[in-house]
Amino acid sequence: MEGKVHGGILPHIRSHKGYVPGVQPSDKDWIKLNTNENPYLCSPSVKNAINGEIDDLRLYSSPDCKSLREAICRRHNVSADQVIVGNGSDDVLNVLARSFCDWNHSIATILPSYSLYPVLASLQNSKLEILEFSRDFTLPVEKITQSKAGIFFLTSPNAPSGIGYDNNTLRQILTAYSGILVVDEAYADFADENAIELIEEFSNLFITRTFSKSYALAGLRVGYGIGDPELVNTLHGVRDVYNVDRLAQAAAEAAIEDFDHFAESLCKIRDSRAEFSSRLHSRNWFTYPSQTNFVFTEPVDSAGKKGPEVASSLYEFLKTQKILVRYFPNHSLTESFLRVTIGTDSEMETLNRAIDQWTANE
Ligand SMILES: Cc1ncc(COP(=O)(O)O)c(C=O)c1O
Repeated sequence: MEGKVHGGILPHIRSHKGYVPGVQPSDKDWIKLNTNENPYLCSPSVKNAINGEIDDLRLYSSPDCKSLREAICRRHNVSADQVIVGNGSDDVLNVLARSFCDWNHSIATILPSYSLYPVLASLQNSKLEILEFSRDFTLPVEKITQSKAGIFFLTSPNAPSGIGYDNNTLRQILTAYSGILVVDEAYADFADENAIELIEEFSNLFITRTFSKSYALAGLRVGYGIGDPELVNTLHGVRDVYNVDRLAQAAAEAAIEDFDHFAESLCKIRDSRAEFSSRLHSRNWFTYPSQTNFVFTEPVDSAGKKGPEVASSLYEFLKTQKILVRYFPNHSLTESFLRVTIGTDSEMETLNRAIDQWTANE
């Protein structure tokens, strides 16, 4: 019986392992610092925009997100033929993987980084060329440029370290690399620099962005990509036709048009990031300088010990206090660290107190 139902499933899909997201608890009494959501509310204009669409829900959404795309173009000073919108930036990354790789055409990336890229490669039955970061998370420019993969996924600023990469380094890569460099800028709004200015210079640069973090709209599922018009045109033919629903298009447009709200929330998050980072430094915990809305820190216990057991102990203790952070035990560069999303001041204060308590009990 099982054979009949499952017999036709492709062998590589049978052995495929799906993406494992961070915990999304259903009760609201958790302090949620595990999936880099924005702790502040989205623009108040989002509500009106969604309400304004309800009566038109019987109609399909704009297949090319016309009005939202125009707003994105105004924000970045690019043209509509350079932009594709997706159901989250994950959707755009997925369309890229579907377009560039199969069993004969590999994907490349550098780890540790966003763990969706290996999942996308696996779905395509594609080989994944993996480069490894060293502990300082600098980019091995030469190794990247020597990659024979047709597409290279690079998260900048990097997750989980929070380290950002400057445009001069990206320029060196883009000049020498023969494939498409996807710079996943999910966190770029929190950074001092981003790669948008390089778009006109390099046709092999493709940037992905999201409304999930800086616009506080993770539940809406809207992201976009910016790149060479010819490539973008090809990607439009690969994506689902109505990949972004009516409510999402209207809400994302309202959010991107409300620049003051966006800027205010960025400012608050950057200030809290500086404050929390300095608290970690005064604890003498090694913490990477963050260009994102999270910090990656190496906990030290009261005996001065650090390492996987210590990180895991704090992670588990925080859970008992209903505080969720992210622990990645599966890589030598992450197993001794915790990734903590920047929350509201009061959430960060509760976290600081919980860390004090853990240190005292250790
Ligand atoms: C590096 C990176 N890229 C992309 C995404 C996904 O963003 P979206 O919510 O737009 O699919 C995330 C989400 O955490 C991320 O960390």
